[in-house]
Amino acid sequence: MERLIVVSNRTPAQGERTQPAGGLTVGLHEVVQTRESLWFGWSGNQAEDADAKPVQVESGETVSYATFDLTPEQYERFYLNFSNGVLWPLCHYRTDLIRYWRADAEAYYAVNERFADRLLPYLRSDDTIWIHDYHLFPMGKRLRSRGVKGRIGFFLHIPFPPWSVARVLPGVDRLLESMTAYDRIGVQTHEDAENLRGCFAACGLEAVVEACPIGIEPESFRQTAISSAASDEVRKTLRSFDGHRFIIGVDRLDYSKGIPERLRGFARLLERYPQYCEQVTFLQVTPVSRAGVESYRALKQQIDELVGSINGAHGTAAWTPVRYTTHGLAREDLAGLYRHADIGLVTPRRDGMNLVAKEFIAAQDENDPGVLILSRLAGAAPDLVKALQVNPLDTDGIADALHTGLSMDRKARHEAWSVMYGEVTRNTAGSWAKQFLDSLEMATT
Ligand code: G6P
Repeated sequence: MERLIVVSNRTPAQGERTQPAGGLTVGLHEVVQTRESLWFGWSGNQAEDADAKPVQVESGETVSYATFDLTPEQYERFYLNFSNGVLWPLCHYRTDLIRYWRADAEAYYAVNERFADRLLPYLRSDDTIWIHDYHLFPMGKRLRSRGVKGRIGFFLHIPFPPWSVARVLPGVDRLLESMTAYDRIGVQTHEDAENLRGCFAACGLEAVVEACPIGIEPESFRQTAISSAASDEVRKTLRSFDGHRFIIGVDRLDYSKGIPERLRGFARLLERYPQYCEQVTFLQVTPVSRAGVESYRALKQQIDELVGSINGAHGTAAWTPVRYTTHGLAREDLAGLYRHADIGLVTPRRDGMNLVAKEFIAAQDENDPGVLILSRLAGAAPDLVKALQVNPLDTDGIADALHTGLSMDRKARHEAWSVMYGEVTRNTAGSWAKQFLDSLEMATT
């Protein structure tokens, strides 16, 4: 089997390499363990002299890592301003949040060229190269222009909008044209595939686009949940609930995740069904993300205020309705908490896939599973049809789903859960990668 070169902007941090935390890195972690691989990308660090510093290589038995720093200016223009201040809102249908500057776009292309140029010395002619996510749309084109002839595939982990939205981006045709360098482009859902094909067609371009939904490794996550369900940290949190039932939400602090909308839905539950007051607590775990982007700072302030106002309006001296932290929890503690939660509340306004939804299902105790409430605008929604699906903008709809979920008997919960667990085990991180890499191979032989 040829060597696999995985390229992504975010690579697992050194401490996380045995157990990465984020969506993309979790999905890819399993893939690189099973064949000779090199994972190439940003180190997560900035340095004034980054361009002069060599790539840092850590060789491992199966997987090696090669990472490099960005200069503070590259970090700002490429990562914050263009990737996360233009492409991220565009792909999540939030054109109102785009802050476009030509200098940032130029820096984005220049950093993509730098990714390609820094990778070149490590490449062998029979490598399969697999590039990931919106930070690196044009990287393949640079590799081609530097003479790389082997297989290059691309996978987009976030949604892709229709032409009517995508055309808002200045220079969208240049971006799409650069993507025709790939032998195969994978996206999460059929809707994303249709959208991207429509964009290529609108620009008179051709590319092979395929829907290939990512999964998790459910068995290892289930084992983690079982073994940490009684850990000190999980028990401490459960004790603090003082016997209340609890709802859990876990998201990076991002406007695509629908966190204010969800908080309003919970507040509405307490207004309309006061029997839950002092009986149910909502734990929202929201590690701060991309705080250098204005829209993220504004969102943090909005959530801070909303949590305060809900707790002020509904809380009592003895009960805090919303428990909210902007610190991340260890992955194993999250798994243990999912297992104990009555409801997993996953209500993004848009999401490429959402692996929290799949992890919540994998973590449940099959004898007494919790209920998943899932936005119909998450990429996971077509796979998890037995979730209680909601429109994330419908506050009353979220309140109703919470009430339904909290009232479901064990039999109904088990029926829904077992169908979803079947789905989560059928379509795993491993089968996702295999499907994509097989079709990449077919495209080029
Ligand atoms: C999403 C993206 C990833 C990204 C992750 C964390 O899952 O698809 O590419 O790495 O968010 O965001 P960050 O900006 O911290 O890398």
